[in-house]
Amino acid sequence: MEIIQNGIKLHSTLPNFFDEIQINSGTVHHSQQTKSKVNYLDWSFVPQYEDDAYMVKRDWRNLTPNEINALKAKTDRNYYNTIYVGDISEELKDIFEALRFKECLRPEDVHECMKRDHDMTLKLSNTMQNYLTDFANNQPFHFHFIGANLPNIDMVAADNTMLPADHQEEDKKCMGIHNDGAEPTSVHESYKSGNRFTINLGTETRYFLYVNLSLTQAFNMLKKKLGISVEQIDLYNISKLFFKYFPDYPVIKIPQKPYQYYIAPTDHCFHDGSTEGMSTLDMIMIYFGKFQY
Ligand SMILES: [Fe+2]
Repeated sequence: MEIIQNGIKLHSTLPNFFDEIQINSGTVHHSQQTKSKVNYLDWSFVPQYEDDAYMVKRDWRNLTPNEINALKAKTDRNYYNTIYVGDISEELKDIFEALRFKECLRPEDVHECMKRDHDMTLKLSNTMQNYLTDFANNQPFHFHFIGANLPNIDMVAADNTMLPADHQEEDKKCMGIHNDGAEPTSVHESYKSGNRFTINLGTETRYFLYVNLSLTQAFNMLKKKLGISVEQIDLYNISKLFFKYFPDYPVIKIPQKPYQYYIAPTDHCFHDGSTEGMSTLDMIMIYFGKFQY
């Protein structure tokens, strides 16, 4: 495996945070690895992957002291060079409990929880607005998404925009480790897109997987390796090119326990979510902004 470079760092005030972070030896084309299978309620299927999807290898281990040092954020933290992990406030936890998200069994139940208690949903919205102001760095932020993934999927992200509205969970095609395109921009401007604040509303630990390189660093590594011109690398092909030519670059695995958040610049680094090993519904709520602390 390659040694991790200085890139996108990690910051948390949670006790023993780095003890639970893991690292592997890189990525592999999805056809080369056995996928986890969904066996939940009446679902029983192996998720499909896009033709050129790359998955994370399964040889996870704890970080070495040198790796912790390379990943630990210093004082120059901002919204695009650091990933933050922490616990949400007790006030927010109480509201999520009152909305009874933990009773959701199916992805569509999540919206029902909010519809059946309009006042509590409004309280959630207002409390979130106040809570996130402390992270927002005086920049605008907004609600993006609340939804769910089935348990025991290796890499959950799927582009559903090409599927009919009534598509089934089995129809989704996982895209593998990727960079988001929340804002149409360029590789070198992708840091400007901001970051996401994602809360785990479920009852089990889920995982955030990421490569600790900015898209700019990935671009420069490709350029050096291949000598290809700037025009041939864009936001759409950079992930496939990177994992094709740097399969040994490690991926970092961050556990996200119930009612913990992570903040990450997902337009600006390769990442995915994972529900591997879970047996209950994975539920998340996402805001977009330029969060930091
Ligand atoms: Fe993503």
